[in-house]
Amino acid sequence: ATGLIGDRLGRPLRDLRISVTDRCNFRCSYCMPKEVFDKHHVFLPQRELLSFEEITRLARIFLAHGVRKIRLTGGEPLLRKGLETLIAQLAALRTVDGEAPDLTLTTNASLLARKAQALKDAGLQRVTVSLDGLDDATFRRMNDVDFPVADVLAGIEAARAAGLAPIKVNMVVKRGTNEQEILPMVRHFRGSGVALRFIEYMDVGATNGWKMDEVLPSAEVRARIAAEFPLQPLVASQPGETAERWAHADGAGEIGFISSVTQAFCGDCNRARLSTEGQLYLCLFASQGHDLRGLLRQGASDADLASAIGAVWQAREDRYSERRSQGGEAPAEGPRRVEMSYIGG
Ligand code: GTP
Ligand code: 5AD
Ligand code: SF4
Ligand code: SF4
Repeated sequence: ATGLIGDRLGRPLRDLRISVTDRCNFRCSYCMPKEVFDKHHVFLPQRELLSFEEITRLARIFLAHGVRKIRLTGGEPLLRKGLETLIAQLAALRTVDGEAPDLTLTTNASLLARKAQALKDAGLQRVTVSLDGLDDATFRRMNDVDFPVADVLAGIEAARAAGLAPIKVNMVVKRGTNEQEILPMVRHFRGSGVALRFIEYMDVGATNGWKMDEVLPSAEVRARIAAEFPLQPLVASQPGETAERWAHADGAGEIGFISSVTQAFCGDCNRARLSTEGQLYLCLFASQGHDLRGLLRQGASDADLASAIGAVWQAREDRYSERRSQGGEAPAEGPRRVEMSYIGG
């Protein structure tokens, strides 16, 4: 019952992003603002989480539908106990072409120095680290738990030493907050083999108080960089990529821009998201998921799961960022959008 499938807009299913925990030890204001995610916030209890066996079983079915890349996210994925065990199970799976899936992880790197080697040994291929600046005071303010930059940099070095490559670093740019960190970040990472990517601050979730005023368009970020370091455009290496890639003209590596606000990339979005409790989401901005855990725990067979997932994907027409940029506003009074910490970045 499986096979390669397209959604209503002809987009294939290629990328599966699995959130393994809704918890994080940071409180980045654009993602888990402290006032909302405080001591009264109720995180998911253990029994609500998909087990590693459940995740692996679903991942195998998604791979049969054409998925090639699996990204573990959160929350902070390294907070999930025994994550190496899950990684080893996922690393043993194969795509429809008989290849190992591209297996990666998005992390704030707070635990990376300690865990990089074990992650590599379990079969993780690479990591993407979130880091919003090099100035310690600015970064401590943005993560809002007083976490130092030096420990993130140590995590990146440990990942490099363990051979988790290529390493990417994601920086969310907020106008008036960390825009002065753009050039120091470029200077620091150019020539290091790390690909630095600038993300436009997005209106994801319903708690970060997003305002367009705080978005610094990628075109402007790029112009500021190009004034000091000449850049050349690179062609996309995969259809549906989030980042537009540019190279330093002097050969010092590449940088990227993820511009979901000013230049939506829904056109060939091939990403599905599996939430911590096993809801399948078709868009980062969705307000509702499709309950796969229910099916799993009611004893569905692999064939049942495969056809349910196939049917959901084939009915997909989500293209939130594109609609917003065409003026079609997000449903203001519709159901509340899910949080990124829950659905997985
Ligand atoms: P690579 O294969 O490493 O290039 O992965 P990626 O760019 O798919 O993944 P990553 O997790 O690094 O994504 C970077 C950021 O892009 C995320 O943290 C989000 O902020 C944003 N992003 C990723 N996917 C989507 C998407 O489907 N829609 C929108 N609007 N933003 C996305
Ligand atoms: N806008 C843009 N990026 C965001 N992330 C989280 N919230 C937002 C937002 N509102 C990114 C983080 C990290 C990944 C987990 O998601 O920077 O790289
Ligand atoms: Fe945690 Fe990442 Fe969200 Fe920051 S952006 S609060 S590190 S999940
Ligand atoms: Fe994909 Fe939705 Fe992001 Fe568009 S807004 S790229 S459809 S996840």
